[in-house]
Amino acid sequence: MNLLNELRSRFETALTPFAIDPAPFAAMVKPTQDAKFGDYQANCCMPLAKQRGENPRELAAKVVAALDVAEFCEPPEVAGAGFINLRVRPEWLQEQTNALIANTRLGVEPVAQPHHIVVDFSSPNVAKPMHVGHLRSTVIGDALCKILKFQGHHVISDNHVGDWGTQFGMIIYGYKHFLDQAALERDMVGELARLYRLVNQLCDYHDLKPKLPKLQEAVAEKQKTVTEAEGNTIPTDAKKADSLKKQLKKLREQLADAQADLESAQSKCAAVEGDATLKALADGHPKIVVESRLETSMLHAGERVNRELWQRFVPECLEAIQRMYDRLGVNFDHTLGESYYDPLLKSVVEEMQAKGLARESDGAVCVFNAGFEAPFIIRKRDGAFTYATTDLATIKYRVQEFQADLILYVVDSRQSEHFVQLFDTARQWGYTGVELQHVKFGTILGKDNRPYKTRSGDTVGLESLLDEGVANARRIVDANDDRKEGGPVLDEAARARVAEAVGLGAIKYADLSQNRESDYVFDWERMLATTGDTATYMQYAYARICGILRKGDVDREALRVDGKIVLEQPAERALAIKLLQFGEALDQASFEFRPNFLTAYLFEAANTFSTFYAKCDVLKAATPELRTSRLLLCDLTARMLQQGLGLLGVETIEQM
Ligand code: ARG
Repeated sequence: MNLLNELRSRFETALTPFAIDPAPFAAMVKPTQDAKFGDYQANCCMPLAKQRGENPRELAAKVVAALDVAEFCEPPEVAGAGFINLRVRPEWLQEQTNALIANTRLGVEPVAQPHHIVVDFSSPNVAKPMHVGHLRSTVIGDALCKILKFQGHHVISDNHVGDWGTQFGMIIYGYKHFLDQAALERDMVGELARLYRLVNQLCDYHDLKPKLPKLQEAVAEKQKTVTEAEGNTIPTDAKKADSLKKQLKKLREQLADAQADLESAQSKCAAVEGDATLKALADGHPKIVVESRLETSMLHAGERVNRELWQRFVPECLEAIQRMYDRLGVNFDHTLGESYYDPLLKSVVEEMQAKGLARESDGAVCVFNAGFEAPFIIRKRDGAFTYATTDLATIKYRVQEFQADLILYVVDSRQSEHFVQLFDTARQWGYTGVELQHVKFGTILGKDNRPYKTRSGDTVGLESLLDEGVANARRIVDANDDRKEGGPVLDEAARARVAEAVGLGAIKYADLSQNRESDYVFDWERMLATTGDTATYMQYAYARICGILRKGDVDREALRVDGKIVLEQPAERALAIKLLQFGEALDQASFEFRPNFLTAYLFEAANTFSTFYAKCDVLKAATPELRTSRLLLCDLTARMLQQGLGLLGVETIEQM
């Protein structure tokens, strides 16, 4: 059972006479960090008493008098300024812990009302190889699928790949003009990626070169405003001074943005101009921007040659990304890319127009959502449908075909505005029965606090990133094995297998343990540390428990059939409480789609186990019953770590 939920519901009842809406106050019941405050604590009486103009300790006493938690807890205590401390009863704890032994779900009950949840994640544009930017969506999305599925929801994972965008027009243009036939035969995806990069570079050049004077002007202008603002005398009024300071800060930020735009454009132009071959290509293809766009339109219009090229390219591109998914252990129920929805787009636009939701503006068809400067364009002036049109069609499809009542979009924060407008439009369109959620995440940064790049400034390819992680992990695995008391125990194949699990686990866990909305710095050393909040630490903790069971020659299955857990020492008790909170951690992680609540829980659980193991003899316990009881706690901890890490897509290995 989920004790936290149960306690909250009991509090809700007890708080009813005191609060018009008791739920938010009941939600203030939390597990404690320190056993001296009991196992759970409620601090709701302080804010509630303030609201009611009462003494918080007196209110707490009244709440306690009305609170019925006697099945699970000792009589609640009022402490400090008006806290209510709850301590789980030993008999109840022991009984519940014993019930976990035979429970294959480790006490996690399936949700009462399962949802049909579509998780739209990974979703790379397939015309180019996957890079570090695809990591977060893939890893977070996969963990969420696994967690939600384990909780009993109907989860449908859908990889909404970009297989229909302007990139294919660029590749087709490249194919028609710059193809290296031999390279294509050797490695199609590699050659297509080269063509994409080349055409993209030439397009950028032609696009940006004429804009340079404007960009320069913008910088000069911003510089002028900043200088002027800096010249203002600071008002004596503190409020006015503060507002001026804020304004200046904003202006400086705008200047920095303008400078960054200019620098980026300048360096892109310089890269082409500084290379005679590239410059010659650029000069020879002055209309490349328009013409590659035309290739895209021709593809969409069904022109034969372009369709055939596209049909040849896409499967190869998908196969290349599949290799990455196989390695990461990520599965999709569907890979319905943008192209899949193409036949539906026309009717979407017509429907929106017929309903009066969209109208023509400047030749384009737009939805004007209240509160937005930019319109939501669903058909461009040249007749092309957009990313937005496709996303609208996709919502319709997912509701119709998958009965989706919740759709999660695990996509970079930078697309926030798109999703706000998309959700707004979908609701007006009539999709009110489906909850739409942008599960957004921040950027992976390098140690210089800028988006993570290779030393030469290129984006980091995902495959090479995974390889590097595994190579780094291998050194740790080797060193650890070489240091073992009785000599190394892993052969070459085992070391390679462990290194793969440790390397990939470290990368995934480092990502999942962040608050997903923050940016984070990619740091091999920290993510592979054998102590601290890392997958490596947790994987070793798991292997260590398996080692204890191995050393004791324990038949784990038999142990579970005959054994009984007895909780006497505080460290045993603390571990049991932690084990019982697994379901609470999953609830927390799925509540706002934040896997970091699960990683935090697992880390605490591993630490609680460490304390238990340091304080309590297991294999040398005083009596056979005690030995059995403690071995069962070891077994449960190992099962829980394996399950928990598994839900994060992190593999566990019994001997490493
Ligand atoms: N392919 C898009 C990109 O790389 C992400 C798609 C996210 N999913 C969606 N339904 N829009 O930016």
